[in-house]
Amino acid sequence: MVKFLTDQEKISAAVLGMGYVGTAVAAVLAGEGVGVVGVDVDPEVIGRLEARRCPFHEPGLPELLLGALDSGGLRVTTDYAPVGEADVVIIAVGTPVRGTELVDAQLRGACERLAARLRPGQLVILKSTVPPGVSRKLVAPLLERGGLKAGVDFGLAFCPERLSEGRALHELRTFPIAVGGWCRDSARAAAAFWRRTIGAEVIDCTSMESAEMVKLAGNWWIDHNIAMANELARLCGALDVDVLEVIAVANTMRKGTGNVNILLPSVGVGGSCLTKDPWMVWRAARERAVDLETVPVARRVNDAMPAHTVDLIDRELARLGLGLEGTRIAVLGAAFKNNTGDLRATPVLPVVAALRRRGADVAVFDPLADPAEVHRIFGLAPAASARDALKGAACVAVLARHDAFDGIDFVALRDTLAESCVIVDGRAYYSKETIDRFRRHGLAYRGIGR
Ligand SMILES: NC(=O)c1ccc[n+]([C@@H]2O[C@H](COP(=O)([O-])OP(=O)(O)OC[C@H]3O[C@@H](n4cnc5c(N)ncnc54)[C@H](O)[C@@H]3O)[C@@H](O)[C@H]2O)c1
Repeated sequence: MVKFLTDQEKISAAVLGMGYVGTAVAAVLAGEGVGVVGVDVDPEVIGRLEARRCPFHEPGLPELLLGALDSGGLRVTTDYAPVGEADVVIIAVGTPVRGTELVDAQLRGACERLAARLRPGQLVILKSTVPPGVSRKLVAPLLERGGLKAGVDFGLAFCPERLSEGRALHELRTFPIAVGGWCRDSARAAAAFWRRTIGAEVIDCTSMESAEMVKLAGNWWIDHNIAMANELARLCGALDVDVLEVIAVANTMRKGTGNVNILLPSVGVGGSCLTKDPWMVWRAARERAVDLETVPVARRVNDAMPAHTVDLIDRELARLGLGLEGTRIAVLGAAFKNNTGDLRATPVLPVVAALRRRGADVAVFDPLADPAEVHRIFGLAPAASARDALKGAACVAVLARHDAFDGIDFVALRDTLAESCVIVDGRAYYSKETIDRFRRHGLAYRGIGR
Protein backbone atom coordinates (compact mmCIF):
# COMPACT_ATOMS: atom_id res chain seq x y z
CA MET A 1 0.00 0.00 0.00
CA VAL A 2 1.34 3.40 -1.00
CA LYS A 3 0.94 6.20 1.53
CA PHE A 4 -0.30 9.46 0.08
CA LEU A 5 1.38 12.73 0.95
CA THR A 6 4.19 11.46 3.12
CA ASP A 7 5.82 13.61 5.75
CA GLN A 8 8.18 15.48 3.42
CA GLU A 9 8.94 19.03 4.54
CA LYS A 10 8.20 20.74 1.25
CA ILE A 11 4.90 20.04 -0.49
CA SER A 12 4.33 20.67 -4.16
CA ALA A 13 0.97 21.02 -5.88
CA ALA A 14 -0.47 21.23 -9.37
CA VAL A 15 -3.69 23.14 -9.98
CA LEU A 16 -5.67 22.12 -13.06
CA GLY A 17 -7.82 24.98 -14.37
CA MET A 18 -6.48 28.50 -13.79
CA GLY A 19 -9.86 30.22 -13.84
CA TYR A 20 -11.19 32.21 -10.92
CA VAL A 21 -11.01 29.42 -8.31
CA GLY A 22 -7.80 27.81 -9.58
CA THR A 23 -5.96 31.14 -9.66
CA ALA A 24 -7.03 32.06 -6.13
CA VAL A 25 -6.15 28.61 -4.73
CA ALA A 26 -2.80 28.51 -6.57
CA ALA A 27 -1.85 32.01 -5.38
CA VAL A 28 -2.77 31.29 -1.75
CA LEU A 29 -0.87 27.98 -1.72
CA ALA A 30 2.18 29.57 -3.36
CA GLY A 31 1.97 32.36 -0.77
CA GLU A 32 2.25 29.69 1.93
CA GLY A 33 5.44 28.33 0.40
CA VAL A 34 3.95 25.45 -1.59
CA GLY A 35 5.65 25.02 -4.96
CA VAL A 36 2.73 25.31 -7.39
CA VAL A 37 2.33 24.67 -11.08
CA GLY A 38 -0.87 26.04 -12.58
CA VAL A 39 -2.09 24.29 -15.72
CA ASP A 40 -4.77 25.48 -18.10
CA VAL A 41 -5.63 24.20 -21.57
CA ASP A 42 -6.49 27.70 -22.75
CA PRO A 43 -3.31 29.39 -24.04
CA GLU A 44 -4.95 32.80 -23.61
CA VAL A 45 -5.44 32.16 -19.88
CA ILE A 46 -1.80 31.13 -19.49
CA GLY A 47 -0.60 33.96 -21.78
CA ARG A 48 -2.39 36.53 -19.58
CA LEU A 49 -0.79 35.12 -16.44
CA GLU A 50 2.63 34.98 -18.08
CA ALA A 51 2.17 38.63 -19.05
CA ARG A 52 1.51 39.25 -15.32
CA ARG A 53 -2.14 40.25 -15.85
CA CYS A 54 -4.63 39.16 -13.23
CA PRO A 55 -8.03 39.07 -14.93
CA PHE A 56 -10.02 38.96 -11.68
CA HIS A 57 -11.00 41.93 -9.51
CA GLU A 58 -10.42 40.17 -6.24
CA PRO A 59 -9.05 42.18 -3.31
CA GLY A 60 -5.43 41.17 -2.69
CA LEU A 61 -5.28 38.62 -5.50
CA PRO A 62 -3.24 40.59 -8.08
CA GLU A 63 -0.49 41.31 -5.53
CA LEU A 64 -0.38 37.74 -4.24
CA LEU A 65 -0.52 36.25 -7.73
CA LEU A 66 2.14 38.48 -9.26
CA GLY A 67 4.39 37.99 -6.23
CA ALA A 68 4.09 34.22 -6.63
CA LEU A 69 4.78 34.37 -10.36
CA ASP A 70 7.76 36.69 -9.91
CA SER A 71 9.31 34.58 -7.16
CA GLY A 72 8.84 31.38 -9.17
CA GLY A 73 6.68 29.91 -6.38
CA LEU A 74 3.95 29.63 -9.01
CA ARG A 75 4.70 28.50 -12.56
CA VAL A 76 1.97 28.43 -15.20
CA THR A 77 1.77 26.32 -18.32
CA THR A 78 -0.52 24.64 -20.84
CA ASP A 79 1.63 21.51 -20.55
CA TYR A 80 0.46 18.64 -18.33
CA ALA A 81 3.97 17.13 -18.07
CA PRO A 82 4.91 18.82 -14.72
CA VAL A 83 1.70 17.52 -13.12
CA GLY A 84 3.30 14.12 -12.59
CA GLU A 85 5.90 15.70 -10.29
CA ALA A 86 3.42 17.30 -7.86
CA ASP A 87 2.57 15.69 -4.52
CA VAL A 88 -1.00 16.93 -4.71
CA VAL A 89 -3.09 17.63 -7.81
CA ILE A 90 -6.07 19.96 -7.38
CA ILE A 91 -8.78 19.95 -10.04
CA ALA A 92 -10.57 23.31 -10.38
CA VAL A 93 -11.95 23.23 -13.92
CA GLY A 94 -15.39 24.56 -14.81
CA THR A 95 -18.50 22.43 -14.29
CA PRO A 96 -21.33 24.32 -15.97
CA VAL A 97 -24.82 22.93 -16.53
CA ARG A 98 -26.87 22.99 -19.72
CA GLY A 99 -30.45 23.28 -18.52
CA THR A 100 -30.15 21.02 -15.50
CA GLU A 101 -27.52 18.64 -16.86
CA LEU A 102 -23.84 18.75 -15.93
CA VAL A 103 -21.59 19.58 -18.86
CA ASP A 104 -18.64 17.41 -17.90
CA ALA A 105 -16.33 18.08 -20.86
CA GLN A 106 -13.80 20.12 -18.83
CA LEU A 107 -13.80 17.63 -15.98
CA ARG A 108 -13.43 14.66 -18.31
CA GLY A 109 -10.65 16.43 -20.22
CA ALA A 110 -8.73 17.20 -17.01
CA CYS A 111 -9.14 13.65 -15.63
CA GLU A 112 -8.12 11.99 -18.90
CA ARG A 113 -5.01 14.10 -19.23
CA LEU A 114 -4.17 13.62 -15.58
CA ALA A 115 -4.67 9.83 -15.76
CA ALA A 116 -1.84 9.58 -18.27
CA ARG A 117 0.52 11.39 -15.84
CA LEU A 118 -0.61 10.06 -12.48
CA ARG A 119 2.07 8.29 -10.44
CA PRO A 120 1.88 6.19 -7.26
CA GLY A 121 1.65 8.21 -4.04
CA GLN A 122 -0.07 11.26 -5.52
CA LEU A 123 -3.15 12.74 -3.95
CA VAL A 124 -5.88 14.12 -6.23
CA ILE A 125 -8.26 16.68 -4.74
CA LEU A 126 -11.38 17.66 -6.67
CA LYS A 127 -12.55 21.21 -5.94
CA SER A 128 -14.92 21.75 -8.85
CA THR A 129 -18.59 21.68 -7.84
CA VAL A 130 -20.20 18.43 -9.00
CA PRO A 131 -23.49 16.57 -8.51
CA PRO A 132 -23.39 13.85 -5.84
CA GLY A 133 -21.71 10.70 -7.06
CA VAL A 134 -19.53 12.31 -9.74
CA SER A 135 -16.27 12.00 -7.76
CA ARG A 136 -16.81 8.26 -7.34
CA LYS A 137 -18.57 7.37 -10.57
CA LEU A 138 -16.89 9.63 -13.11
CA VAL A 139 -13.64 11.06 -11.72
CA ALA A 140 -12.24 7.90 -10.12
CA PRO A 141 -12.83 5.59 -13.14
CA LEU A 142 -11.35 8.19 -15.52
CA LEU A 143 -8.25 8.53 -13.33
CA GLU A 144 -7.92 4.75 -13.08
CA ARG A 145 -7.68 4.51 -16.86
CA GLY A 146 -3.99 5.32 -16.41
CA GLY A 147 -3.58 1.91 -14.76
CA LEU A 148 -3.39 2.99 -11.10
CA LYS A 149 -6.06 2.23 -8.50
CA ALA A 150 -7.78 4.86 -6.37
CA GLY A 151 -7.19 4.33 -2.68
CA VAL A 152 -4.37 1.89 -3.41
CA ASP A 153 -1.93 3.73 -5.70
CA PHE A 154 -3.24 7.27 -5.55
CA GLY A 155 -5.41 9.14 -3.06
CA LEU A 156 -8.64 10.85 -4.02
CA ALA A 157 -10.73 13.36 -2.09
CA PHE A 158 -13.49 15.83 -2.76
CA CYS A 159 -13.01 19.17 -0.99
CA PRO A 160 -15.64 21.66 -2.16
CA GLU A 161 -14.62 25.25 -2.78
CA ARG A 162 -16.91 27.47 -0.77
CA LEU A 163 -15.32 30.89 -1.26
CA SER A 164 -17.39 33.75 -2.62
CA GLU A 165 -16.11 36.39 -4.99
CA GLY A 166 -14.94 39.61 -3.41
CA ARG A 167 -13.81 37.85 -0.21
CA ALA A 168 -12.04 34.90 -1.80
CA LEU A 169 -8.61 35.15 -0.20
CA HIS A 170 -9.90 35.72 3.31
CA GLU A 171 -12.41 32.88 2.98
CA LEU A 172 -9.86 30.51 1.45
CA ARG A 173 -7.69 30.95 4.52
CA THR A 174 -10.40 30.97 7.17
CA PHE A 175 -13.38 28.85 6.06
CA PRO A 176 -13.34 25.31 7.40
CA ILE A 177 -12.55 22.89 4.59
CA ALA A 178 -14.89 19.94 4.16
CA VAL A 179 -13.06 16.78 3.18
CA GLY A 180 -14.69 13.67 1.74
CA GLY A 181 -12.21 10.89 0.96
CA TRP A 182 -12.36 7.88 -1.33
CA CYS A 183 -10.92 6.01 1.66
CA ARG A 184 -9.59 6.84 5.14
CA ASP A 185 -6.02 7.32 3.86
CA SER A 186 -7.19 9.72 1.16
CA ALA A 187 -9.25 11.75 3.65
CA ARG A 188 -6.37 11.81 6.13
CA ALA A 189 -3.91 12.96 3.45
CA ALA A 190 -6.25 15.69 2.16
CA ALA A 191 -6.86 16.94 5.71
CA ALA A 192 -3.11 16.97 6.37
CA PHE A 193 -2.51 18.88 3.15
CA TRP A 194 -4.89 21.74 4.05
CA ARG A 195 -3.69 21.89 7.66
CA ARG A 196 -0.03 21.90 6.74
CA THR A 197 -0.33 24.43 3.91
CA ILE A 198 -2.93 27.06 4.73
CA GLY A 199 -3.52 26.00 8.33
CA ALA A 200 -7.24 25.68 7.73
CA GLU A 201 -9.69 23.96 10.02
CA VAL A 202 -10.74 20.71 8.37
CA ILE A 203 -14.10 19.00 8.76
CA ASP A 204 -14.17 15.33 7.98
CA CYS A 205 -17.19 14.14 5.99
CA THR A 206 -17.83 10.43 6.02
CA SER A 207 -17.90 10.12 2.23
CA MET A 208 -17.19 11.99 -0.98
CA GLU A 209 -20.94 12.11 -1.63
CA SER A 210 -21.50 13.82 1.71
CA ALA A 211 -18.87 16.47 0.87
CA GLU A 212 -20.40 16.94 -2.59
CA MET A 213 -23.78 17.57 -0.95
CA VAL A 214 -22.25 19.99 1.57
CA LYS A 215 -21.34 22.34 -1.26
CA LEU A 216 -24.67 22.01 -3.03
CA ALA A 217 -26.73 22.33 0.15
CA GLY A 218 -24.95 25.61 0.96
CA ASN A 219 -25.75 27.20 -2.39
CA TRP A 220 -29.29 25.77 -2.43
CA TRP A 221 -29.84 27.45 0.94
CA ILE A 222 -28.41 30.80 -0.26
CA ASP A 223 -30.53 30.84 -3.42
CA HIS A 224 -33.63 29.91 -1.47
CA ASN A 225 -32.97 32.45 1.27
CA ILE A 226 -32.47 35.23 -1.30
CA ALA A 227 -35.71 34.20 -3.03
CA MET A 228 -37.51 34.66 0.29
CA ALA A 229 -35.79 38.05 0.77
CA ASN A 230 -36.84 39.07 -2.74
CA GLU A 231 -40.48 38.13 -2.12
CA LEU A 232 -40.35 39.88 1.25
CA ALA A 233 -39.01 42.97 -0.54
CA ARG A 234 -41.82 42.93 -3.08
CA LEU A 235 -44.37 42.73 -0.29
CA CYS A 236 -42.66 45.45 1.77
CA GLY A 237 -42.60 47.65 -1.34
CA ALA A 238 -46.37 47.22 -1.64
CA LEU A 239 -46.85 47.95 2.09
CA ASP A 240 -44.56 50.99 2.04
CA VAL A 241 -42.41 49.37 4.71
CA ASP A 242 -38.59 49.39 4.45
CA VAL A 243 -37.47 45.82 3.82
CA LEU A 244 -34.00 46.52 5.20
CA GLU A 245 -35.45 47.55 8.53
CA VAL A 246 -37.63 44.42 8.60
CA ILE A 247 -34.68 42.17 7.80
CA ALA A 248 -32.35 43.87 10.28
CA VAL A 249 -34.80 43.47 13.14
CA ALA A 250 -36.04 40.01 12.11
CA ASN A 251 -32.41 38.87 12.10
CA THR A 252 -32.05 39.65 15.81
CA MET A 253 -34.24 36.63 16.65
CA ARG A 254 -32.32 33.64 17.93
CA LYS A 255 -33.04 30.36 16.21
CA GLY A 256 -31.20 27.06 16.24
CA THR A 257 -27.49 27.63 16.80
CA GLY A 258 -27.54 31.25 15.65
CA ASN A 259 -29.95 33.94 14.55
CA VAL A 260 -32.54 34.17 11.81
CA ASN A 261 -30.42 35.23 8.85
CA ILE A 262 -32.49 36.64 6.02
CA LEU A 263 -30.15 37.75 3.25
CA LEU A 264 -30.59 40.87 1.13
CA PRO A 265 -32.99 41.35 -1.77
CA SER A 266 -31.65 42.68 -5.05
CA VAL A 267 -31.99 43.10 -8.80
CA GLY A 268 -31.42 39.36 -9.10
CA VAL A 269 -29.09 36.43 -8.57
CA GLY A 270 -26.30 35.84 -11.05
CA GLY A 271 -22.80 34.43 -11.31
CA SER A 272 -21.72 30.96 -12.19
CA CYS A 273 -22.66 29.14 -8.96
CA LEU A 274 -26.06 30.11 -7.55
CA THR A 275 -27.66 29.94 -10.98
CA LYS A 276 -26.52 26.36 -11.59
CA ASP A 277 -25.77 24.54 -8.32
CA PRO A 278 -29.45 24.36 -7.24
CA TRP A 279 -30.24 22.72 -10.59
CA MET A 280 -27.52 20.13 -9.95
CA VAL A 281 -29.30 19.28 -6.70
CA TRP A 282 -32.70 19.20 -8.38
CA ARG A 283 -31.53 16.85 -11.12
CA ALA A 284 -29.64 14.57 -8.74
CA ALA A 285 -32.85 14.31 -6.70
CA ARG A 286 -35.02 13.62 -9.72
CA GLU A 287 -32.68 10.83 -10.82
CA ARG A 288 -33.38 9.24 -7.44
CA ALA A 289 -37.15 9.78 -7.66
CA VAL A 290 -37.06 12.62 -5.10
CA ASP A 291 -39.06 15.67 -6.16
CA LEU A 292 -37.57 18.96 -4.90
CA GLU A 293 -40.05 21.80 -5.12
CA THR A 294 -38.02 24.54 -3.46
CA VAL A 295 -35.33 24.60 -6.16
CA PRO A 296 -37.49 25.60 -9.15
CA VAL A 297 -39.52 28.00 -7.00
CA ALA A 298 -36.44 29.86 -5.75
CA ARG A 299 -34.91 29.93 -9.21
CA ARG A 300 -38.14 31.31 -10.68
CA VAL A 301 -38.46 34.00 -7.98
CA ASN A 302 -34.86 35.12 -8.37
CA ASP A 303 -34.98 35.03 -12.16
CA ALA A 304 -38.04 37.31 -12.05
CA MET A 305 -36.20 40.09 -10.20
CA PRO A 306 -34.70 41.80 -13.29
CA ALA A 307 -38.24 42.16 -14.75
CA HIS A 308 -39.43 43.47 -11.36
CA THR A 309 -36.61 46.04 -11.45
CA VAL A 310 -37.63 47.15 -14.94
CA ASP A 311 -41.23 47.60 -13.72
CA LEU A 312 -39.94 49.61 -10.78
CA ILE A 313 -37.96 51.91 -13.10
CA ASP A 314 -40.95 52.25 -15.42
CA ARG A 315 -43.30 53.13 -12.54
CA GLU A 316 -40.90 55.63 -10.99
CA LEU A 317 -40.37 57.36 -14.32
CA ALA A 318 -44.15 57.52 -14.76
CA ARG A 319 -44.37 59.33 -11.39
CA LEU A 320 -42.01 61.91 -12.87
CA GLY A 321 -44.27 62.18 -15.91
CA LEU A 322 -41.81 60.29 -18.11
CA GLY A 323 -41.93 57.09 -20.15
CA LEU A 324 -39.10 54.73 -21.02
CA GLU A 325 -39.09 55.68 -24.70
CA GLY A 326 -36.20 58.04 -25.39
CA THR A 327 -35.39 58.51 -21.69
CA ARG A 328 -31.79 58.44 -20.60
CA ILE A 329 -31.12 55.81 -17.93
CA ALA A 330 -27.70 55.49 -16.33
CA VAL A 331 -26.96 51.97 -15.10
CA LEU A 332 -24.14 51.91 -12.57
CA GLY A 333 -22.67 48.43 -12.10
CA ALA A 334 -22.91 45.72 -14.74
CA ALA A 335 -21.42 42.86 -12.70
CA PHE A 336 -23.54 40.22 -11.00
CA LYS A 337 -22.15 41.14 -7.61
CA ASN A 338 -20.92 44.18 -5.71
CA ASN A 339 -17.17 44.81 -5.93
CA THR A 340 -16.49 42.28 -8.67
CA GLY A 341 -16.18 42.79 -12.42
CA ASP A 342 -17.68 39.35 -13.09
CA LEU A 343 -20.34 39.52 -15.78
CA ARG A 344 -21.25 35.81 -15.76
CA ALA A 345 -25.04 35.43 -15.77
CA THR A 346 -25.36 38.99 -14.51
CA PRO A 347 -28.99 39.98 -13.79
CA VAL A 348 -28.10 43.48 -15.02
CA LEU A 349 -28.08 42.18 -18.60
CA PRO A 350 -31.83 41.34 -18.78
CA VAL A 351 -32.61 44.70 -17.14
CA VAL A 352 -30.59 46.64 -19.72
CA ALA A 353 -31.92 44.52 -22.60
CA ALA A 354 -35.56 45.08 -21.55
CA LEU A 355 -35.07 48.81 -21.07
CA ARG A 356 -33.47 49.12 -24.48
CA ARG A 357 -36.19 47.02 -26.12
CA ARG A 358 -38.65 49.51 -24.72
CA GLY A 359 -36.79 52.41 -26.30
CA ALA A 360 -34.78 53.74 -23.34
CA ASP A 361 -31.41 55.36 -23.99
CA VAL A 362 -29.28 53.27 -21.61
CA ALA A 363 -25.70 54.08 -20.58
CA VAL A 364 -23.84 51.41 -18.62
CA PHE A 365 -20.83 52.15 -16.43
CA ASP A 366 -18.82 49.61 -14.46
CA PRO A 367 -15.26 50.51 -13.49
CA LEU A 368 -14.46 46.91 -12.49
CA ALA A 369 -15.68 45.10 -15.59
CA ASP A 370 -13.57 44.77 -18.72
CA PRO A 371 -15.04 47.33 -21.18
CA ALA A 372 -14.58 44.96 -24.15
CA GLU A 373 -16.51 42.26 -22.26
CA VAL A 374 -19.29 44.72 -21.37
CA HIS A 375 -19.50 45.68 -25.03
CA ARG A 376 -19.58 42.02 -26.14
CA ILE A 377 -22.14 40.85 -23.59
CA PHE A 378 -24.42 43.90 -23.47
CA GLY A 379 -24.06 44.76 -27.18
CA LEU A 380 -23.38 48.33 -26.15
CA ALA A 381 -20.18 50.32 -25.63
CA PRO A 382 -19.92 51.15 -21.91
CA ALA A 383 -19.67 54.77 -20.79
CA ALA A 384 -16.09 55.89 -20.20
CA SER A 385 -16.91 57.46 -16.84
CA ALA A 386 -19.71 57.77 -14.32
CA ARG A 387 -20.15 61.41 -15.32
CA ASP A 388 -20.61 60.39 -18.98
CA ALA A 389 -23.22 57.83 -17.99
CA LEU A 390 -25.07 60.27 -15.74
CA LYS A 391 -25.30 63.07 -18.33
CA GLY A 392 -29.00 63.93 -18.80
CA ALA A 393 -30.15 60.78 -16.91
CA ALA A 394 -33.72 60.81 -15.60
CA CYS A 395 -33.03 57.56 -13.81
CA VAL A 396 -29.84 56.33 -12.16
CA ALA A 397 -30.14 52.59 -11.55
CA VAL A 398 -27.45 51.36 -9.17
CA LEU A 399 -27.46 47.65 -9.98
CA ALA A 400 -24.10 46.60 -8.51
CA ARG A 401 -22.75 48.70 -5.68
CA HIS A 402 -19.02 48.87 -5.97
CA ASP A 403 -16.97 50.71 -3.34
CA ALA A 404 -15.63 52.71 -6.29
CA PHE A 405 -19.08 54.36 -6.49
CA ASP A 406 -18.76 55.78 -2.97
CA GLY A 407 -17.08 58.86 -4.40
CA ILE A 408 -19.96 59.60 -6.80
CA ASP A 409 -22.19 62.20 -5.18
CA PHE A 410 -25.46 62.39 -7.12
CA VAL A 411 -26.35 65.56 -5.25
CA ALA A 412 -23.11 67.29 -6.27
CA LEU A 413 -23.76 66.08 -9.83
CA ARG A 414 -27.36 67.36 -9.76
CA ASP A 415 -26.76 69.66 -12.77
CA THR A 416 -25.40 66.75 -14.83
CA LEU A 417 -28.63 64.78 -14.30
CA ALA A 418 -31.99 65.52 -15.92
CA GLU A 419 -34.23 68.05 -14.18
CA SER A 420 -36.43 65.24 -12.80
CA CYS A 421 -34.48 62.20 -11.76
CA VAL A 422 -34.99 59.07 -9.68
CA ILE A 423 -32.30 56.95 -8.07
CA VAL A 424 -33.33 53.29 -8.34
CA ASP A 425 -31.43 51.22 -5.83
CA GLY A 426 -30.98 47.65 -7.03
CA ARG A 427 -28.51 46.73 -4.28
CA ALA A 428 -26.84 49.87 -2.97
CA TYR A 429 -28.91 49.77 0.22
CA TYR A 430 -28.48 53.50 0.81
CA SER A 431 -28.96 54.63 4.39
CA LYS A 432 -32.03 56.59 5.45
CA GLU A 433 -29.81 59.68 5.84
CA THR A 434 -28.55 59.39 2.27
CA ILE A 435 -32.09 58.86 0.95
CA ASP A 436 -33.30 61.94 2.88
CA ARG A 437 -30.42 63.93 1.39
CA PHE A 438 -31.35 62.79 -2.13
CA ARG A 439 -34.92 63.90 -1.53
CA ARG A 440 -33.93 67.25 -0.04
CA HIS A 441 -32.06 67.96 -3.27
CA GLY A 442 -34.94 67.03 -5.54
CA LEU A 443 -33.88 63.47 -6.35
CA ALA A 444 -36.55 60.79 -6.04
CA TYR A 445 -35.50 57.43 -4.58
CA ARG A 446 -36.88 53.92 -4.87
CA GLY A 447 -35.18 50.70 -3.79
CA ILE A 448 -36.12 47.05 -4.14
CA GLY A 449 -38.56 46.74 -1.23
CA ARG A 450 -37.90 50.29 -0.07
N1 LIG B 1 -16.46 31.24 -9.27
C1 LIG B 1 -16.76 30.99 -8.01
O1 LIG B 1 -17.00 31.92 -7.22
C2 LIG B 1 -16.77 29.58 -7.47
C3 LIG B 1 -16.87 29.38 -6.09
C4 LIG B 1 -16.87 28.08 -5.60
C5 LIG B 1 -16.79 27.01 -6.47
N2 LIG B 1 -16.71 27.21 -7.82
C6 LIG B 1 -16.60 26.04 -8.68
O2 LIG B 1 -15.22 25.89 -9.01
C7 LIG B 1 -15.07 25.40 -10.36
C8 LIG B 1 -14.26 26.39 -11.19
O3 LIG B 1 -14.95 27.62 -11.24
P1 LIG B 1 -14.30 28.91 -11.91
O4 LIG B 1 -15.24 30.02 -11.64
O5 LIG B 1 -12.88 29.03 -11.51
O6 LIG B 1 -14.37 28.49 -13.46
P2 LIG B 1 -13.64 29.19 -14.68
O7 LIG B 1 -14.52 28.95 -15.86
O8 LIG B 1 -13.27 30.60 -14.30
O9 LIG B 1 -12.27 28.39 -14.85
C9 LIG B 1 -12.16 27.12 -15.37
C10 LIG B 1 -10.81 27.02 -16.07
O10 LIG B 1 -10.53 25.66 -16.37
C11 LIG B 1 -9.85 25.63 -17.62
N3 LIG B 1 -9.91 24.28 -18.17
C12 LIG B 1 -10.92 23.69 -18.86
N4 LIG B 1 -10.61 22.42 -19.17
C13 LIG B 1 -9.37 22.19 -18.64
C14 LIG B 1 -8.50 21.06 -18.61
N5 LIG B 1 -8.85 19.91 -19.18
N6 LIG B 1 -7.31 21.19 -17.99
C15 LIG B 1 -6.94 22.35 -17.42
N7 LIG B 1 -7.72 23.45 -17.44
C16 LIG B 1 -8.92 23.38 -18.03
C17 LIG B 1 -10.57 26.67 -18.44
O11 LIG B 1 -9.80 27.08 -19.55
C18 LIG B 1 -10.77 27.78 -17.40
O12 LIG B 1 -9.68 28.69 -17.40
C19 LIG B 1 -16.49 25.20 -10.87
O13 LIG B 1 -16.86 23.87 -10.62
C20 LIG B 1 -17.32 26.14 -10.00
O14 LIG B 1 -18.66 25.71 -9.90
C21 LIG B 1 -16.68 28.47 -8.33
